[in-house]
Amino acid sequence: MPTPPKATPTVVSVSLAGYPRNYPIFIGAGLLAQLPDLLKTHVFNNTAVGKLVLVTDETVAGLYLSTIETALKSAEIKVETLIVPAGEMAKTADQLTRIYETCHAFGMTRRDAIVALGGGVVGDLAGYAAATYYRGCQFVQVPTTLLSQVDSSVGGKVAINFKDVKNAIGTFYQPQLVVADTACIETLPERERLAGLAEMIKYALIEQAAVGSTAPLNPETSFLAFYEQLGANWMTQLPTLIARCCQLKAAVVARDEQESAPANDSTGRVCLNLGHTFAHAYESALGYGVLLHGEAVAIGMMQAFWLSERLGLVEKSTSARIQRLLEAVSLFPMALPSIPNAMELVALMRKDKKVLKADSLRFILPQAPIGSLLVHDTVPVADVLAVLDQYHQAI
Ligand SMILES: NC(=O)c1ccc[n+]([C@@H]2O[C@H](COP(=O)([O-])OP(=O)(O)OC[C@H]3O[C@@H](n4cnc5c(N)ncnc54)[C@H](O)[C@@H]3O)[C@@H](O)[C@H]2O)c1
Repeated sequence: MPTPPKATPTVVSVSLAGYPRNYPIFIGAGLLAQLPDLLKTHVFNNTAVGKLVLVTDETVAGLYLSTIETALKSAEIKVETLIVPAGEMAKTADQLTRIYETCHAFGMTRRDAIVALGGGVVGDLAGYAAATYYRGCQFVQVPTTLLSQVDSSVGGKVAINFKDVKNAIGTFYQPQLVVADTACIETLPERERLAGLAEMIKYALIEQAAVGSTAPLNPETSFLAFYEQLGANWMTQLPTLIARCCQLKAAVVARDEQESAPANDSTGRVCLNLGHTFAHAYESALGYGVLLHGEAVAIGMMQAFWLSERLGLVEKSTSARIQRLLEAVSLFPMALPSIPNAMELVALMRKDKKVLKADSLRFILPQAPIGSLLVHDTVPVADVLAVLDQYHQAI
């Protein structure tokens, strides 16, 4: 059988201060087949090829593991595979220990690599193992969900959950290489896809803050205009959309790698939290796992625009424009199994980890020109309640 032509990937580079701190993100359809070559070039630097511990989850293993193992073995790369349960409950100390045990039994050294094949759960778990095994071995992200391709695989946050606290134990640890095969998104359930899309649209709504520029964006060439043009056909431009999100995240991470920018600097890593004060409150009020995180972010982004409109930070026409885009891609209105009590939501917002002063509220809000943001610590509760009511009336 003739060998299929190799996909030409888009490459986004993440540049960080210090040496050696740059890494490439390869984005394109069919890249899993190129993984052995990419590993040899970018992880093993074309010298003696080391060992890999490949961490994946049960669902992803069923879909992609045999293809990858075959490709790695035919390239004479020694691989040991560990399969963890699918979903958030795999981000535990027990699963972490299983990774360490696999690395130990396989005789891994610091020069060898842990490869995360899967969504954000596998990436966070395997990344934390890579950050800590022998005080840090090589790490490769092969994200297979939309959310992980545009967000969690880029930027170096790795963690496990502890007791009831999400990401309680973690660190910053950058990968050497990220390989995002956009063909994997075809097998992703529609609901997961839309949740990933919400996080992708967030990048269009923070574009100016993310590039750290004070000059307004060109409305014709903005990322937002691109989404509006695509509407429900957004999947046709997946590699381009993912690459733009990764460029924006890379720009933010390059400026504020460890979230140490001043608390009110809306161009720091905090800009990635647009809509998240609302989102976290809904996730918590409805019970974790009822809404996907991206679904909650879609609710939160719409509410953030309405709140900004009430506070005079954006025109009514701007929030109407965002509503039209979210409607076009089925992210508005978001059906809820039950409508949480508004005062309970506000109480949860006061406990958000971004809040600096006990019992206050902290929002990352859009302001004019579109794409720029304001960190707001003094929003009147009455305005928050009005926005919650507006959303609950609309659904
Ligand atoms: N590190 C960061 O910067 C960061 C950022 C955002 C989120 N996160 C973390 O990411 C996690 C959520 O990530 P996620 O949304 O990718 O969830 P996930 O990893 O649980 O994946 C979602 C589901 O999709 C399945 N799946 C994965 N790829 C698939 C494919 N190609 N086809 C079919 N099914 C597939 C998985 O098995 C799982 O059941 C959370 O734990 C969150 O805390 C981390």
